[in-house]
Amino acid sequence: MEKYYRNSIIEIDLDTLLNNVNEVKDKCSADKFLYAVIKGDAYGHGIKQMAQVVVDSRADGIAVATLDEAFIVRKYHPNVKILCLGIIRNEDVELAMQRNITLTIAQSDSVKYLASLNLTSKLKVHLKVNTGMNRIGFKEIAELEDVITQLQNNENVEIEGIFTHFATGEDYDKEDYLMMQLNRFKEVVQTLAYNFKQIHCTNSSSLLKFHHLIDFTNTNRVGITLYGALQDKIQDNYQIKAAFVLKSKIAQVQVYPKGYKVGYSNRYTTLNDNEIIATIPLGYADGFSRLHTNSKVKCNNQYGTIVGSICMDQLMIRFENPVNIGDEIILLSDDKEIDIYQRCHEAQTITHAIFTRFGNRIPKAYYKNNQLIEIDNALMKK
Ligand SMILES: Cc1ncc(COP(=O)(O)O)c(C=O)c1O
Repeated sequence: MEKYYRNSIIEIDLDTLLNNVNEVKDKCSADKFLYAVIKGDAYGHGIKQMAQVVVDSRADGIAVATLDEAFIVRKYHPNVKILCLGIIRNEDVELAMQRNITLTIAQSDSVKYLASLNLTSKLKVHLKVNTGMNRIGFKEIAELEDVITQLQNNENVEIEGIFTHFATGEDYDKEDYLMMQLNRFKEVVQTLAYNFKQIHCTNSSSLLKFHHLIDFTNTNRVGITLYGALQDKIQDNYQIKAAFVLKSKIAQVQVYPKGYKVGYSNRYTTLNDNEIIATIPLGYADGFSRLHTNSKVKCNNQYGTIVGSICMDQLMIRFENPVNIGDEIILLSDDKEIDIYQRCHEAQTITHAIFTRFGNRIPKAYYKNNQLIEIDNALMKK
């Protein structure tokens, strides 16, 4: 087991992740091909470990954003289907082909570049359609027709799929926009009348809400739901749970009189005599935002309040009842007071962004059947 030398850790339950993947597969158009999205280090859960979960699950393939992510997955899984959703550099296309990575083609320049290559085996590609996200993709049907003709003339390329991405899946007040994108995608697919093996448009929210209404696709993509954290009540209809717990331990406890200044820039002043202030070895360099000041953490049966500025490597907590050095502090779990949605509210962000903030300084401990099976301490591998 890898070692770590500080009492701050992320615990991840692999069984929960596996159940989440299977739940989505079974309940959302089980007959369709399902890509589990594991970009952003599997939304902060660890790409290597999540790739294994997906391979063990009933999902059918893996989607990533970058070629580095694709290659890491390929290193451990020679046969799994991998789709790279982002635009890659031209100079990396041949290596991607050699490693059997399916690529996204989003602009005509890439098609021209593919024509100039002398590839040794077939490169599979999916065409990205811009239906309103206005990030990447082809906008006009005429351009797509031209691209398909060019790619059909390129014997080294197989046009396997076509897809788009919704901009407002989680916004109930912008469902019109989602429907506009969906209808536009349907129009594009039907007008092209090409026999695509994979046609896809969903992300978590649109998949959970509308999968039964989308009849012209045969493939789905899902990300944040697999990690149990869709910022939407629709998730309550599914047996999906968070798998991620952020923990630390108290390193020092001090008791101060009223009027003592705590932390950088004196941002907190003790309110009472005999105030208990505990310090833990976890800070914003670990991904725990300074915006969580004044929020709760849990210690045994009580909640404490984070006081003063959160430092780079440490933070201070006020407790009402005595605590001791070594007591466990939980900073993120499925407890409603400190769950991912509460943390989003405090930091004014989305669940995806909370999870992906935790960098490589906090080790991750992986559990299966309630047993610790692996510790991944990325920093020590440098
Ligand atoms: C192209 C694409 N597809 C699918 C997803 C997965 O979205 P979600 O995590 O909301 O399911 C993303 C996430 O950002 C994406 O960019």
